[in-house]
Order: sequence, then C-alpha cells, then structure tokens
Amino acid sequence: MNNILEIKDLCKTYYTKLGCVEALRNINLNIHDGEIIGIIGNSGCGKSTLLSILAKLDEGTSGDIKSEKKDYVVGYMLQNDALFPWLTILDNATLGLKIKNIKTKENIEYTKQLLETYGLKDFMYKYPNSLSGGMKQRVALIRTLAIKPDILLLDEPFSKLDLITRLDISDDVYKMIKQEKKTTIIISHDIGECVSLCDRVAIMTKRPGTIKKIYDINLLNKDIPSKVRTDEKFYYYYDLLWKEIDK
Ligand SMILES: Nc1ncnc2c1ncn2[C@@H]1O[C@H](COP(=O)(O)OP(=O)(O)OP(=O)(O)O)[C@@H](O)[C@H]1O
Ligand SMILES: [Mg+2]
Repeated sequence: MNNILEIKDLCKTYYTKLGCVEALRNINLNIHDGEIIGIIGNSGCGKSTLLSILAKLDEGTSGDIKSEKKDYVVGYMLQNDALFPWLTILDNATLGLKIKNIKTKENIEYTKQLLETYGLKDFMYKYPNSLSGGMKQRVALIRTLAIKPDILLLDEPFSKLDLITRLDISDDVYKMIKQEKKTTIIISHDIGECVSLCDRVAIMTKRPGTIKKIYDINLLNKDIPSKVRTDEKFYYYYDLLWKEIDK
C-alpha cells in the first residue's frame, strides 16, 4: 500500500494573547493512496487543526508531513462550507478554479461534466435557493473536485443536514469519491458514519490530540453506506470505536 501522505510527530500549539493552546501532540499517521480514512474524536481535540495543516492553510509547530508528490493538490471542504447565494450553481462550482486562477475552458468543461454526472445538469444556471440541502452538498463537493485534487479533506461534511438527507447524501458522496478515485480524509463526530463510509478510522484523544488507535473496517458490500448499517459487523465496529473514544 502506497502512502500518499506520511505525517510524523506533528505538533501544533496556538499562541494567543490569553496564553497558549496545545492542540496537537506528536501526530503520527500514514494516509494510504485511494483510501477513505475517518478521523473521530471529541470536540476541540484538534481535528480541524490537523486538516488545516494538511491543507497547507496553517503550519505545524514541529514535525513533518511527507508526500511522494511535493506539491500535492488538496481539495478542502470546510466545516459549514456554504454556497454563495448570488452565484449560479456553475459559478459556485467553478469558484475554486477561479481562486486558483485555473478557470480554463477545459476545467469548466470538466466541472460541467461533474454536475451532469451527479444529477445537477438542469440546475447549472439556477441559484442555490432552488436546491435541496443534499443537492447543495453535492455542489460543494463538486467545487472541491473541480480543481482535481490529489487528496480530499472533508471536515464534517454532513453535520448541517437532517438524518435522512445525511444518509442519502453520504451514499452519493461515497459513490462520487470512489468513482473519482480520491484519497479522502473525513472528519466526523458520527461513529455510524465513520463505520459505513471509511476503510480505516483513526481515533484521536482529547486535546492535545494524538492518534490513539487506528481500526481497519472490513465490511462486505460497502457500495451503499446506508445499507452497510444492516451488516451484522456494523455494530461490532460501532461498539469498538465507541469504547475507545475518550468521553
Ligand atoms: N486560531 C486559533 N487560535 C487559538 N486557538 C485555536 C485556534 N483554532 C483552534 N484553536 C483551539 O485548538 C483546539 C483544537 O481546535 P479544533 O478546531 O482543531 O478542534 P476540533 O477537533 O475540530 O473541534 P470540533 O469537533 O468542535 O470541530 C481547541 O481548543 C481550539 O479552541
Ligand atoms: Mg472542527
């Protein structure tokens, strides 16, 4: 198994006027090429901090992140990532391209293709208020995919959605990630979501966050995450993770 990223002894301390906050302590984690890895842990344990460092938006205080591709492209979907209501769906979906200054004809065409493949063709020139929550989420993911990232970082992508939409959209998102063959790191508070979507799940300790344990999730018929919940081993993994998470 090739590693797309190797995180070695990554530490992060925030220094503020009120003092310092040690967010991450000696994070060691390899991200395998093509996998979906979940990261789960208490609120405030440093999950978003870790992703923002992997996305190169912030830097660790010490430690190292190695990648076989020096300038790996990251698609980062933030916690509460929203569409801009005054932009059409196509303009929202190509926003990342615009920001990166790569809004070429070819890349716009690729984005249109993604919108078409994932059921949004008829909405390209409409505005976000004509979309359901699940559809908006799909557009946000397409915006992230449009820049052709080597690795996708999803920070609680479903936390704003109601349970039914959440199950529905996680099936869609799973399909999209697997079809587009993207290595993905997904942060979630939801154990069931991690078990049903991920190939591996890493558990973080309370702050300062460290990687406490990593589990391989071996379930049959993983093509449709919402159906995985009926697999008898689903609850075995659910329990395993639940017991391990710091309360
Ligand atoms: N820019 C910052 N300046 C100072 N402290 C910060 C900053 N960003 C995060 N922190 C602190 O670092 C710790 C980790 O925060 P982080 O947002 O990474 O946690 P999280 O695991 O993503 O939490 P949640 O599950 O609630 O999203 C918290 O104690 C937080 O208050
Ligand atoms: Mg967070």
